[in-house]
Amino acid sequence: MDWQALPNAPETGTCLCTLAEIDDGAALMLTLGSAAPTFDLLVLRSGSSLFGYLNRCSHFGVPLANQQKHLRYQPHEHFQCNIHYARYNWTDGRCVSGECAGEGLVPIPLVVVDGHICIGKAEGESS
Ligand code: FES
Repeated sequence: MDWQALPNAPETGTCLCTLAEIDDGAALMLTLGSAAPTFDLLVLRSGSSLFGYLNRCSHFGVPLANQQKHLRYQPHEHFQCNIHYARYNWTDGRCVSGECAGEGLVPIPLVVVDGHICIGKAEGESS
């Protein structure tokens, strides 16, 4: 899926939040755009490593959770969809159990710039 073609998709270099806003081992839900359809993503942190995914379950294409407080995850290990409980790998977004086995979430490239978490270059994107 070409996430950059979705409504409200952030441009390369768009900063989302500060690194300090995400604790080590936390998974943060972010929504971009003020009107539907919004662009929803997940940002996961393991130390200095960040993992970004489109918040869209590969089973039914819905957000894994509708509110931050409902997002289920085991820090640094996996996170889960609230609908049918598909489980995804923390570090690559691959579905490891449930209705989407063999599939995975769409990765969103992230970089840290001056303490801010920003959108990195997409695969194949030139400078
Ligand atoms: S919609 Fe996520 S597991 Fe079914």
